[in-house]
Amino acid sequence: MKVLITGGCGFIGTNLIRYILKNKPDWNIVNVDLLTYAGNLENTAGLEEAYPGRYTFVRADIADREAMASLFAKHSFDLVLNLAAESHVDRSIEDAGVFIRTNVMGVQVLLDASLRYRVGRFLHVSTDEVYGSLGKDGRFTEDLPLAPNSPYSASKAAADLLVRSYVKTFDFNAVITRCSNNYGPYQFPEKLIPLMVLNAYRDRELPVYGDGKNVRDWIYVDDHCRGIVMVAEKGVHGEAYNMGGDAEKENIQIVRNILNSLGKTEGLIRYVKDRPGHDFRYAMDFSKIESTLGWKPLINFEEGIEKTIRWYLNNKPWWEKILSGDYKNYYERMYAGR
Ligand code: NAD
Ligand code: TYD
Repeated sequence: MKVLITGGCGFIGTNLIRYILKNKPDWNIVNVDLLTYAGNLENTAGLEEAYPGRYTFVRADIADREAMASLFAKHSFDLVLNLAAESHVDRSIEDAGVFIRTNVMGVQVLLDASLRYRVGRFLHVSTDEVYGSLGKDGRFTEDLPLAPNSPYSASKAAADLLVRSYVKTFDFNAVITRCSNNYGPYQFPEKLIPLMVLNAYRDRELPVYGDGKNVRDWIYVDDHCRGIVMVAEKGVHGEAYNMGGDAEKENIQIVRNILNSLGKTEGLIRYVKDRPGHDFRYAMDFSKIESTLGWKPLINFEEGIEKTIRWYLNNKPWWEKILSGDYKNYYERMYAGR
């Protein structure tokens, strides 16, 4: 099996590549990543050597039609797993343009290339945020109308609709996964959990938006990766599958948990101005994937958060380079003159 993974130098992509190399010995991976601020080549360092012949990296933009055409022509992919995206809500509020370019136009380019070069299956990694926001009760199911509230989630919803249209119009073999908030190793420290871990560790203030009572459904990244592979293999053509961690937490609970675990004082908490359009609550009903494909999350929050905190404590050089901006020079150092 020849598999294209896009965005493999980001948080989930890196974990997914590692999961596949370990668990699917007959899958060979080409990782295409533009190496934006969120893509870090150190996340995949050593994989070429550890898995000879099974892993290749290509630096390219998924929205670059010519680059994608030559890549697809060269490789004859059996499967495309599309993770490349601009992924941070706060950045999309600052500037939505690059979100439309990568998350919408990039997906269109990948869909066209996949059609033209007869890719066997296309899996698009989407998010629970396309459903909008919940009140205190209820959970998202796959048949809900899409109702995104941020430029980020609107760009992801647009991509979901494009994928759907290619399924209907061209009988294109695509599936969609929609997952809740991930956490785990290699997450860029702009997202809630790594940001709070690193701030607490360094005795910096922990900026909690609004009253800290917004709720997210947290899933350990390995559970998501296992689900992506399962849907790629067994998902029904044209269907979307929700995944969640069955671990709803208020943001302030997460922050307190991290402070406790690191032995730091709650005096570090600082309530700051709320995010505009801040979705109140996400919660996933994943009964469809559970009953049809046999997937459910296996790592509970208490175990997952401790593993994650320990990973950040044990990988100081990784995040120090990110915080200093130094990681951006890695590509130039590794590839200059090659
Ligand atoms: P991330 O921001 O950590 O990584 C994104 C990766 O995509 C980076 O390596 C970046 O360099 C690359 N990229 C960005 N623009 C590109 C382009 N134009 N061409 C090629 N590569 C490009 O994101 P993540 O958290 O790993 O999320 C991966 C996917 O999963 C995204 O599609 C996201 O919407 C989705 N998702 C994320 C979560 C979550 O909690 N993190 C939850 C559900 C779904
Ligand atoms: P985030 O990790 O950005 O994920 P998303 O917005 O995609 O769910 O944020 C998770 C929650 O944490 C969200 O309710 C916003 C909140 N948050 C803070 O309170 N402070 C912060 O510094 C950040 C980054 C997020």
